[in-house]
Amino acid sequence: MSEVHVMDHPLIQHKIGVIRRKDIGSRDFRAMIGEIAAFMCYEATRDLKLQDVEIETPICKTVVKELSGKKMAIVPILRAGIGMVDGILNMIPAAKVGHIGLYRDPETFEPVEYFCKLPADCGEREVFVVDPMLATGGSCSAAIQMLKDKGVKNIRFMCIIAAPEGVARMQEEHPDVDLYIGALDDHLDEHKYIVPGLGDAGDRIFGTK
Ligand code: PRP
Ligand code: URA
Repeated sequence: MSEVHVMDHPLIQHKIGVIRRKDIGSRDFRAMIGEIAAFMCYEATRDLKLQDVEIETPICKTVVKELSGKKMAIVPILRAGIGMVDGILNMIPAAKVGHIGLYRDPETFEPVEYFCKLPADCGEREVFVVDPMLATGGSCSAAIQMLKDKGVKNIRFMCIIAAPEGVARMQEEHPDVDLYIGALDDHLDEHKYIVPGLGDAGDRIFGTK
């Protein structure tokens, strides 16, 4: 069974509280999505492996720590996932970035694929799939299946707000993928929007509504 990490850091909780407000404009919403993603990345990388290496400071030789595990890739689910990329790249500048294009059909709520471009060595990397919203879980599950079909084995998923329905679906369909969640909300409404949620993340990031 996958691990589900719900972030309890006060700064993450405070910023999520701000972006839920309906009177926050796109500029502030977008900036805060990036900031939250950076804080979440910090929390979600706590278990990365380190090794000792000897270096020379201006004063003397010493042993320092450096990352020793797999290299990383960030894969946002378009569109809204793009809003999280810069914040994570600020923390992990060497990560490569892939893109998976999916949108949720407004009538069937099923994900529709329209784009997939991944780093060539994605299969050898630790991949963080990112999307601000996990609602039914259809988009996330499909994106992760696309990665697995291309040979990616080490996958984590990071979202800012999740519904219990999406978490349950992910645990059922991808029990090997750990979930990093900013806030776990109450339920989905009849349009499959997260309640209380924050509305349509893509529209709020890009100002399209
Ligand atoms: C939103 C969101 C997720 C998906 C979540 O994207 O960013 O990708 O819905 O819903 P689900 O868990 O029920 O699949 P949307 O389809 O609105 O596309 P957009 O990012 O282009 O706005
Ligand atoms: N997608 C969103 O952007 N928001 C929701 O609440 C559900 C799906």
